[in-house]
Amino acid sequence: MFADRVLSGMRPTGSLHLGHYHGVLKNWVQMQHEYECLFFVADWHALTTHYDTPQVIEQSVWDMVVDWLAAGVDPAHATLFIQSRVPEHAELHLLLSMITPLGWLERVPTYKDQQEKLSEKDLSTYGFLGYPLLQSADILIYRATQVPVGEDQVPHIEFTREIARRFNHIYGREPGFEEKAEAAVKKLGSKKARLYNELRTRFQEQGDDAALESAKSLLDEQQSLSHGDRERLFGYLEGGGKMILSEPRAMLTAASKMPGLDGQKMSKSYDNTITLREDEASVTKKIRTMPTDPARIRRTDPGTPEKCPVWPLHQVYSSEDVKQWVQKGCTTAGIGCIECKQPVIDAVLEEQRPMRERAQQYLDDPALVRNIIADGCEKARELARETMRDVREAMGLSYS
Ligand code: TRP
Ligand code: SF4
Repeated sequence: MFADRVLSGMRPTGSLHLGHYHGVLKNWVQMQHEYECLFFVADWHALTTHYDTPQVIEQSVWDMVVDWLAAGVDPAHATLFIQSRVPEHAELHLLLSMITPLGWLERVPTYKDQQEKLSEKDLSTYGFLGYPLLQSADILIYRATQVPVGEDQVPHIEFTREIARRFNHIYGREPGFEEKAEAAVKKLGSKKARLYNELRTRFQEQGDDAALESAKSLLDEQQSLSHGDRERLFGYLEGGGKMILSEPRAMLTAASKMPGLDGQKMSKSYDNTITLREDEASVTKKIRTMPTDPARIRRTDPGTPEKCPVWPLHQVYSSEDVKQWVQKGCTTAGIGCIECKQPVIDAVLEEQRPMRERAQQYLDDPALVRNIIADGCEKARELARETMRDVREAMGLSYS
Protein backbone atom coordinates (compact mmCIF):
# COMPACT_ATOMS: atom_id res chain seq x y z
CA MET A 1 0.00 0.00 0.00
CA PHE A 2 2.90 2.34 0.68
CA ALA A 3 5.74 2.96 -1.71
CA ASP A 4 9.12 1.62 -0.72
CA ARG A 5 10.62 3.73 1.98
CA VAL A 6 13.90 2.98 3.68
CA LEU A 7 14.69 4.13 7.19
CA SER A 8 17.77 3.60 9.29
CA GLY A 9 19.35 5.15 12.33
CA MET A 10 22.73 5.23 13.98
CA ARG A 11 23.59 5.90 17.60
CA PRO A 12 25.99 8.81 18.16
CA THR A 13 28.39 7.24 20.62
CA GLY A 14 31.82 8.06 19.18
CA SER A 15 33.65 8.60 15.92
CA LEU A 16 32.86 6.47 12.93
CA HIS A 17 35.63 4.34 11.46
CA LEU A 18 36.30 2.45 8.26
CA GLY A 19 34.29 -0.48 9.58
CA HIS A 20 31.18 1.74 9.58
CA TYR A 21 32.07 2.90 6.09
CA HIS A 22 32.39 -0.58 4.62
CA GLY A 23 29.60 -2.10 6.72
CA VAL A 24 26.90 0.57 6.65
CA LEU A 25 27.60 3.86 4.92
CA LYS A 26 28.56 2.50 1.51
CA ASN A 27 25.24 0.69 1.58
CA TRP A 28 23.32 3.85 2.49
CA VAL A 29 25.03 5.76 -0.30
CA GLN A 30 23.93 3.16 -2.79
CA MET A 31 20.38 2.91 -1.49
CA GLN A 32 19.75 6.64 -1.61
CA HIS A 33 19.64 6.34 -5.40
CA GLU A 34 17.28 3.37 -5.38
CA TYR A 35 14.72 4.25 -2.71
CA GLU A 36 13.24 7.08 -0.77
CA CYS A 37 15.62 7.14 2.20
CA LEU A 38 15.47 8.57 5.69
CA PHE A 39 18.60 8.39 7.85
CA PHE A 40 18.67 9.70 11.37
CA VAL A 41 20.85 10.22 14.40
CA ALA A 42 19.40 8.06 17.17
CA ASP A 43 20.40 10.32 20.04
CA TRP A 44 17.68 9.10 22.40
CA HIS A 45 18.82 5.55 21.79
CA ALA A 46 22.35 6.62 22.67
CA LEU A 47 21.03 8.03 25.95
CA THR A 48 19.58 4.67 26.96
CA THR A 49 23.12 3.39 27.50
CA HIS A 50 25.07 6.67 27.84
CA TYR A 51 22.69 8.53 30.14
CA ASP A 52 25.59 9.39 32.45
CA THR A 53 27.89 10.74 29.73
CA PRO A 54 25.70 12.97 27.58
CA GLN A 55 28.75 14.99 26.49
CA VAL A 56 29.83 12.03 24.36
CA ILE A 57 26.53 12.14 22.51
CA GLU A 58 26.50 15.88 22.10
CA GLN A 59 29.97 15.81 20.58
CA SER A 60 29.25 12.82 18.35
CA VAL A 61 26.02 14.06 16.80
CA TRP A 62 27.49 16.66 14.47
CA ASP A 63 30.69 14.72 13.82
CA MET A 64 28.59 11.80 12.76
CA VAL A 65 26.50 13.83 10.35
CA VAL A 66 29.71 15.21 8.82
CA ASP A 67 30.98 11.63 8.53
CA TRP A 68 27.80 10.62 6.68
CA LEU A 69 28.15 13.53 4.29
CA ALA A 70 31.85 12.79 3.86
CA ALA A 71 31.04 9.20 2.96
CA GLY A 72 28.74 10.43 0.21
CA VAL A 73 25.32 10.42 1.81
CA ASP A 74 23.67 13.18 -0.18
CA PRO A 75 21.02 15.44 1.32
CA ALA A 76 19.61 15.94 -2.17
CA HIS A 77 18.73 12.24 -2.21
CA ALA A 78 18.16 11.29 1.40
CA THR A 79 16.45 12.99 4.32
CA LEU A 80 18.84 13.39 7.26
CA PHE A 81 17.55 14.26 10.69
CA ILE A 82 17.97 13.94 14.43
CA GLN A 83 15.56 11.78 16.40
CA SER A 84 15.09 14.17 19.32
CA ARG A 85 14.15 16.97 16.92
CA VAL A 86 11.10 15.00 15.87
CA PRO A 87 9.29 14.70 19.20
CA GLU A 88 6.48 12.74 17.54
CA HIS A 89 8.72 9.66 17.94
CA ALA A 90 8.33 10.06 21.70
CA GLU A 91 4.57 10.41 21.47
CA LEU A 92 4.26 7.27 19.38
CA HIS A 93 6.59 5.44 21.75
CA LEU A 94 4.34 6.39 24.66
CA LEU A 95 1.15 5.38 22.87
CA LEU A 96 2.61 2.06 21.75
CA SER A 97 3.78 1.39 25.29
CA MET A 98 0.11 1.09 26.29
CA ILE A 99 -0.25 -2.10 24.27
CA THR A 100 3.24 -3.55 24.65
CA PRO A 101 3.38 -6.59 26.91
CA LEU A 102 6.35 -6.41 29.28
CA GLY A 103 7.21 -10.00 28.45
CA TRP A 104 7.77 -9.12 24.80
CA LEU A 105 10.38 -6.54 25.80
CA GLU A 106 12.05 -8.80 28.33
CA ARG A 107 12.33 -11.54 25.72
CA VAL A 108 14.14 -9.44 23.08
CA PRO A 109 17.58 -11.12 23.01
CA THR A 110 19.56 -7.86 22.98
CA TYR A 111 18.06 -6.90 26.35
CA LYS A 112 19.86 -9.46 28.51
CA ASP A 113 22.87 -9.66 26.14
CA GLN A 114 23.64 -5.97 26.33
CA GLN A 115 23.03 -5.83 30.07
CA GLU A 116 25.61 -8.55 30.49
CA LYS A 117 28.04 -7.07 27.99
CA LEU A 118 27.86 -3.59 29.50
CA SER A 119 27.85 -4.89 33.05
CA GLU A 120 29.75 -1.87 34.38
CA LYS A 121 26.62 0.18 33.70
CA ASP A 122 23.30 -0.08 35.44
CA LEU A 123 20.97 -0.89 32.58
CA SER A 124 18.03 -1.99 34.65
CA THR A 125 16.24 1.17 33.59
CA TYR A 126 12.82 1.78 32.13
CA GLY A 127 14.42 3.52 29.13
CA PHE A 128 16.73 0.64 28.29
CA LEU A 129 13.97 -1.95 28.53
CA GLY A 130 11.99 0.21 26.12
CA TYR A 131 14.85 0.46 23.60
CA PRO A 132 13.24 -1.84 21.01
CA LEU A 133 9.88 -0.10 21.36
CA LEU A 134 11.45 3.30 20.76
CA GLN A 135 13.03 1.76 17.68
CA SER A 136 9.61 0.49 16.61
CA ALA A 137 8.23 4.01 16.96
CA ASP A 138 11.13 5.31 14.80
CA ILE A 139 10.22 2.87 12.08
CA LEU A 140 6.43 2.84 12.25
CA ILE A 141 6.06 6.59 12.38
CA TYR A 142 7.42 6.79 8.81
CA ARG A 143 5.62 3.67 7.62
CA ALA A 144 9.03 2.48 6.48
CA THR A 145 8.90 -0.62 4.32
CA GLN A 146 12.56 -1.58 4.59
CA VAL A 147 15.03 -1.17 7.39
CA PRO A 148 18.68 -1.86 6.58
CA VAL A 149 20.27 -3.33 9.68
CA GLY A 150 22.92 -5.78 10.76
CA GLU A 151 22.12 -9.29 11.97
CA ASP A 152 22.04 -8.20 15.61
CA GLN A 153 19.12 -5.86 14.94
CA VAL A 154 16.84 -8.39 13.24
CA PRO A 155 14.99 -9.22 16.48
CA HIS A 156 14.12 -5.53 16.81
CA ILE A 157 12.54 -5.52 13.38
CA GLU A 158 10.60 -8.69 14.20
CA PHE A 159 9.46 -7.04 17.40
CA THR A 160 8.36 -3.98 15.42
CA ARG A 161 6.30 -6.16 13.10
CA GLU A 162 4.55 -7.73 16.06
CA ILE A 163 3.79 -4.34 17.57
CA ALA A 164 2.36 -3.09 14.26
CA ARG A 165 0.19 -6.19 13.97
CA ARG A 166 -1.04 -5.86 17.54
CA PHE A 167 -1.82 -2.19 17.02
CA ASN A 168 -3.76 -2.84 13.83
CA HIS A 169 -5.59 -5.68 15.48
CA ILE A 170 -6.67 -3.61 18.48
CA TYR A 171 -7.33 -0.26 16.82
CA GLY A 172 -7.84 -1.13 13.19
CA ARG A 173 -11.53 -1.80 13.53
CA GLU A 174 -13.84 1.04 12.81
CA PRO A 175 -17.61 0.95 13.27
CA GLY A 176 -19.21 -0.54 10.18
CA PHE A 177 -15.88 -1.78 8.83
CA GLU A 178 -17.35 -4.68 6.85
CA GLU A 179 -19.95 -2.49 5.14
CA LYS A 180 -17.37 0.16 4.32
CA ALA A 181 -15.00 -2.44 2.95
CA GLU A 182 -17.77 -3.96 0.79
CA ALA A 183 -18.61 -0.51 -0.52
CA ALA A 184 -14.93 0.08 -1.33
CA VAL A 185 -14.83 -3.21 -3.26
CA LYS A 186 -17.70 -1.99 -5.43
CA LYS A 187 -15.77 1.16 -6.23
CA LEU A 188 -13.15 -0.98 -7.97
CA GLY A 189 -15.56 -1.57 -10.84
CA SER A 190 -17.30 -4.87 -11.48
CA LYS A 191 -14.44 -6.71 -13.18
CA LYS A 192 -11.78 -5.83 -10.64
CA ALA A 193 -14.21 -6.25 -7.77
CA ARG A 194 -14.88 -9.82 -8.90
CA LEU A 195 -11.15 -10.49 -9.16
CA TYR A 196 -10.52 -8.95 -5.72
CA ASN A 197 -13.22 -11.09 -4.11
CA GLU A 198 -11.96 -14.20 -5.80
CA LEU A 199 -8.37 -13.63 -4.68
CA ARG A 200 -9.51 -12.74 -1.17
CA THR A 201 -11.49 -15.97 -0.90
CA ARG A 202 -8.58 -18.00 -2.19
CA PHE A 203 -6.30 -16.48 0.42
CA GLN A 204 -8.72 -16.70 3.32
CA GLU A 205 -10.04 -20.18 2.60
CA GLN A 206 -6.97 -21.88 1.21
CA GLY A 207 -4.17 -19.73 2.61
CA ASP A 208 -3.00 -19.10 -0.94
CA ASP A 209 -0.16 -16.56 -0.52
CA ALA A 210 0.18 -16.01 -4.25
CA ALA A 211 -3.46 -14.93 -4.35
CA LEU A 212 -2.77 -12.49 -1.53
CA GLU A 213 0.16 -11.04 -3.45
CA SER A 214 -1.88 -10.69 -6.64
CA ALA A 215 -4.65 -8.94 -4.74
CA LYS A 216 -2.14 -6.57 -3.22
CA SER A 217 -0.67 -5.66 -6.55
CA LEU A 218 -4.16 -5.20 -7.93
CA LEU A 219 -4.74 -2.63 -5.17
CA ASP A 220 -1.36 -1.03 -5.76
CA GLU A 221 -2.43 -0.30 -9.30
CA GLN A 222 -5.65 1.49 -8.31
CA GLN A 223 -4.77 5.16 -8.49
CA SER A 224 -8.21 6.56 -7.85
CA LEU A 225 -8.96 4.92 -4.47
CA SER A 226 -9.02 7.19 -1.45
CA HIS A 227 -6.47 6.57 1.28
CA GLY A 228 -9.16 5.31 3.62
CA ASP A 229 -10.67 2.88 1.11
CA ARG A 230 -7.25 1.62 0.16
CA GLU A 231 -6.46 0.84 3.81
CA ARG A 232 -9.81 -0.86 4.24
CA LEU A 233 -9.29 -3.05 1.20
CA PHE A 234 -5.83 -4.09 2.38
CA GLY A 235 -7.18 -4.80 5.85
CA TYR A 236 -10.20 -6.68 4.52
CA LEU A 237 -7.96 -8.92 2.40
CA GLU A 238 -6.14 -10.36 5.37
CA GLY A 239 -9.22 -10.56 7.50
CA GLY A 240 -8.17 -7.89 9.94
CA GLY A 241 -9.40 -4.37 10.23
CA LYS A 242 -7.89 -1.26 8.81
CA MET A 243 -4.14 -1.28 8.45
CA ILE A 244 -2.92 1.81 10.24
CA LEU A 245 0.70 0.91 10.84
CA SER A 246 2.54 -1.08 8.20
CA GLU A 247 4.93 -3.90 8.94
CA PRO A 248 8.52 -3.20 7.89
CA ARG A 249 10.97 -5.73 6.54
CA ALA A 250 14.57 -6.04 7.66
CA MET A 251 17.02 -5.52 4.83
CA LEU A 252 19.99 -7.45 6.02
CA THR A 253 23.29 -5.73 5.40
CA ALA A 254 26.11 -8.24 5.16
CA ALA A 255 28.19 -8.09 8.31
CA SER A 256 31.20 -5.87 7.81
CA LYS A 257 34.25 -7.98 7.26
CA MET A 258 36.42 -4.95 7.69
CA PRO A 259 39.52 -6.12 9.55
CA GLY A 260 41.08 -3.89 12.17
CA LEU A 261 44.74 -3.14 12.78
CA ASP A 262 45.22 -6.35 14.77
CA GLY A 263 43.45 -8.85 12.51
CA GLN A 264 40.25 -8.86 14.59
CA LYS A 265 37.13 -7.18 13.27
CA MET A 266 37.49 -3.37 13.33
CA SER A 267 35.75 -2.10 16.43
CA LYS A 268 36.13 0.75 18.88
CA SER A 269 36.13 -1.68 21.77
CA TYR A 270 39.21 -3.45 20.40
CA ASP A 271 41.05 -0.16 19.91
CA ASN A 272 42.06 -1.24 16.41
CA THR A 273 40.33 1.34 14.24
CA ILE A 274 41.15 3.89 11.58
CA THR A 275 38.60 6.68 11.80
CA LEU A 276 36.77 7.79 8.69
CA ARG A 277 38.61 11.06 8.23
CA GLU A 278 41.77 10.32 10.16
CA ASP A 279 44.72 12.43 9.02
CA GLU A 280 47.21 10.95 6.60
CA ALA A 281 50.20 10.93 8.94
CA SER A 282 48.27 9.06 11.58
CA VAL A 283 46.90 6.47 9.11
CA THR A 284 50.39 5.89 7.75
CA LYS A 285 51.85 5.46 11.21
CA LYS A 286 49.11 3.11 12.36
CA ILE A 287 49.54 0.78 9.41
CA ARG A 288 53.36 0.94 9.48
CA THR A 289 53.38 -0.14 13.11
CA MET A 290 50.83 -2.92 12.67
CA PRO A 291 51.96 -6.30 13.95
CA THR A 292 52.91 -8.82 11.25
CA ASP A 293 53.49 -12.59 11.11
CA PRO A 294 55.31 -13.21 14.41
CA ALA A 295 57.53 -15.81 12.64
CA ARG A 296 59.10 -13.05 10.53
CA ILE A 297 61.57 -11.77 13.05
CA ARG A 298 64.30 -10.77 10.63
CA ARG A 299 63.87 -9.34 7.17
CA THR A 300 65.41 -12.55 5.81
CA ASP A 301 62.87 -14.84 7.52
CA PRO A 302 60.11 -15.98 5.15
CA GLY A 303 56.57 -15.39 6.40
CA THR A 304 53.02 -16.66 5.92
CA PRO A 305 50.45 -14.03 4.90
CA GLU A 306 47.64 -16.10 6.42
CA LYS A 307 49.26 -15.59 9.82
CA CYS A 308 49.61 -11.84 9.36
CA PRO A 309 46.99 -9.16 10.19
CA VAL A 310 48.12 -7.13 7.16
CA TRP A 311 46.91 -9.84 4.78
CA PRO A 312 43.17 -9.35 5.46
CA LEU A 313 43.65 -5.67 4.61
CA HIS A 314 45.16 -6.68 1.27
CA GLN A 315 42.02 -8.76 0.72
CA VAL A 316 39.91 -5.64 1.08
CA TYR A 317 42.13 -3.18 -0.74
CA SER A 318 44.49 -4.90 -3.17
CA SER A 319 44.22 -6.18 -6.74
CA GLU A 320 44.98 -9.78 -7.67
CA ASP A 321 48.41 -8.68 -8.90
CA VAL A 322 49.33 -7.04 -5.64
CA LYS A 323 48.06 -10.01 -3.67
CA GLN A 324 50.24 -12.34 -5.73
CA TRP A 325 53.18 -10.05 -5.18
CA VAL A 326 52.53 -10.26 -1.42
CA GLN A 327 52.20 -14.05 -1.45
CA LYS A 328 55.39 -14.53 -3.37
CA GLY A 329 57.39 -11.79 -1.66
CA CYS A 330 56.38 -12.75 1.86
CA THR A 331 56.88 -16.52 1.57
CA THR A 332 60.31 -16.10 -0.06
CA ALA A 333 61.43 -13.15 2.06
CA GLY A 334 61.64 -11.24 -1.19
CA ILE A 335 59.91 -8.17 0.23
CA GLY A 336 60.03 -6.49 3.62
CA CYS A 337 56.99 -5.85 5.74
CA ILE A 338 57.14 -2.06 5.38
CA GLU A 339 57.25 -2.54 1.63
CA CYS A 340 54.30 -4.92 1.81
CA LYS A 341 52.22 -2.44 3.80
CA GLN A 342 52.72 0.45 1.40
CA PRO A 343 49.99 -0.51 -1.12
CA VAL A 344 47.52 -0.82 1.77
CA ILE A 345 48.51 2.60 3.08
CA ASP A 346 48.11 4.06 -0.40
CA ALA A 347 44.71 2.47 -0.91
CA VAL A 348 43.33 3.60 2.45
CA LEU A 349 44.55 7.14 1.86
CA GLU A 350 43.02 7.13 -1.58
CA GLU A 351 39.71 5.89 -0.24
CA GLN A 352 39.71 8.61 2.40
CA ARG A 353 40.78 11.50 0.17
CA PRO A 354 37.33 12.28 -1.29
CA MET A 355 35.86 11.90 2.18
CA ARG A 356 38.26 14.43 3.64
CA GLU A 357 37.56 16.75 0.73
CA ARG A 358 33.80 16.50 1.05
CA ALA A 359 34.04 17.05 4.80
CA GLN A 360 36.14 20.18 4.48
CA GLN A 361 33.37 22.50 3.34
CA TYR A 362 31.25 21.43 6.29
CA LEU A 363 34.09 21.94 8.73
CA ASP A 364 34.72 25.39 7.23
CA ASP A 365 31.05 26.28 7.49
CA PRO A 366 29.19 24.37 10.19
CA ALA A 367 26.01 26.29 9.35
CA LEU A 368 25.74 24.14 6.22
CA VAL A 369 25.35 21.01 8.32
CA ARG A 370 22.90 22.71 10.68
CA ASN A 371 20.78 23.70 7.68
CA ILE A 372 20.81 20.25 6.13
CA ILE A 373 19.59 18.81 9.42
CA ALA A 374 17.00 21.55 9.92
CA ASP A 375 15.55 20.80 6.48
CA GLY A 376 15.61 17.06 7.11
CA CYS A 377 13.89 17.42 10.49
CA GLU A 378 11.16 19.52 8.90
CA LYS A 379 10.54 16.92 6.19
CA ALA A 380 10.59 14.08 8.68
CA ARG A 381 8.19 15.87 11.00
CA GLU A 382 5.69 16.32 8.24
CA LEU A 383 5.61 12.59 7.58
CA ALA A 384 5.54 11.82 11.29
CA ARG A 385 2.64 14.19 11.89
CA GLU A 386 0.58 12.45 9.24
CA THR A 387 0.99 9.07 10.90
CA MET A 388 0.29 10.53 14.31
CA ARG A 389 -2.99 11.96 13.08
CA ASP A 390 -4.11 8.46 12.11
CA VAL A 391 -2.76 6.93 15.31
CA ARG A 392 -4.46 9.47 17.55
CA GLU A 393 -7.70 9.03 15.71
CA ALA A 394 -7.51 5.25 15.94
CA MET A 395 -6.85 5.45 19.68
CA GLY A 396 -9.71 7.84 20.25
CA LEU A 397 -7.51 10.83 21.01
CA SER A 398 -8.64 13.26 18.36
CA TYR A 399 -11.14 15.16 20.44
CA SER A 400 -12.40 18.31 18.91
N1 TRP B 1 19.28 0.17 17.33
C1 TRP B 1 19.98 0.58 16.14
C2 TRP B 1 21.47 0.21 16.28
O1 TRP B 1 21.96 0.09 17.38
C3 TRP B 1 19.87 2.07 15.91
C4 TRP B 1 18.45 2.45 15.59
C5 TRP B 1 17.59 3.15 16.38
C6 TRP B 1 17.75 2.09 14.42
N2 TRP B 1 16.41 3.29 15.77
C7 TRP B 1 16.45 2.65 14.56
C8 TRP B 1 18.09 1.38 13.25
C9 TRP B 1 15.49 2.47 13.58
C10 TRP B 1 17.12 1.20 12.29
C11 TRP B 1 15.83 1.75 12.44
O2 TRP B 1 22.12 0.06 15.28
FE1 SF4 C 1 52.67 -9.68 6.67
FE2 SF4 C 1 53.34 -8.64 4.35
FE3 SF4 C 1 55.14 -8.92 6.30
FE4 SF4 C 1 54.21 -11.05 5.03
S1 SF4 C 1 55.40 -9.41 4.15
S2 SF4 C 1 54.46 -10.82 7.23
S3 SF4 C 1 52.10 -10.44 4.67
S4 SF4 C 1 53.35 -7.62 6.32
